[in-house]
Amino acid sequence: MSGRGTFITLEGIDGAGKSTHHAWLVEVLRSRGKTVVSTREPGGTALGEKLRGLLLADAMHAETETLLMFAARREHIAQVIEPALARGDCVVSDRFTDASFAYQGGGRQVPWNKLEQLEDWVQNGLHPDLTFLFDLDVATARQRLAGTGNAPDRFELEQQAFFERVRAAYLRRMRALPAQYCCIDAGLSIDSIKKILEERLLSVCL
Ligand code: ADP
Ligand code: TYD
Repeated sequence: MSGRGTFITLEGIDGAGKSTHHAWLVEVLRSRGKTVVSTREPGGTALGEKLRGLLLADAMHAETETLLMFAARREHIAQVIEPALARGDCVVSDRFTDASFAYQGGGRQVPWNKLEQLEDWVQNGLHPDLTFLFDLDVATARQRLAGTGNAPDRFELEQQAFFERVRAAYLRRMRALPAQYCCIDAGLSIDSIKKILEERLLSVCL
């Protein structure tokens, strides 16, 4: 179902460096002549951005949170991702379904099999071609977030143990399907990480 384009996602705990490198990846691909759709989850559509506002601010049951994440994703796939891949574009998304396994599965302890059912239903065979997993110890990530001076959202207010579970769940996803992932040591310098990203991009779409 993934058409002719290339679907790239960035994942990792809050503060690992996804947003920093997302913008750079998009620029590199564009400078090499690719048509790139730069997007994010939760969000990526008008409806998805409204759901994002609720998800980041309003307390809710863990399963409600899970269902809203996947509802926003369904819209994102239908309105943005599938049409772009069908046109042959590169789609670069700051987070996708691995984040649901990590935050709702790991962090909130929603059963893995329920997430797998939603993944099958909502994605109907669509999967990223490449996922950059920014892996970083929780203490460093929290220090980085504190250094930004931005007000924390509902997820960023969670305790260290929550983020330890999120990180472990990301690694569990990667171990199940290693060929899809490029695991980045997010403790490296930004320049070193850019080199790793560019090398891996060469193998999928440059
Ligand atoms: P995320 O999107 O994963 O939450 P950001 O990209 O917003 O993370 O990065 C969080 C903070 O850490 C920012 O202030 C950013 O400049 C800084 N940062 C990102 N990557 C690195 C790195 N490799 N080394 C040091 N600081 C970094
Ligand atoms: P993000 O855009 O990375 O936050 P920021 O703008 O602060 O960099 O993501 C918002 C939050 O949503 C993040 O804490 C992780 C969470 N999230 C989930 O819990 N499940 C999901 O499926 C997704 C896509 C995100």
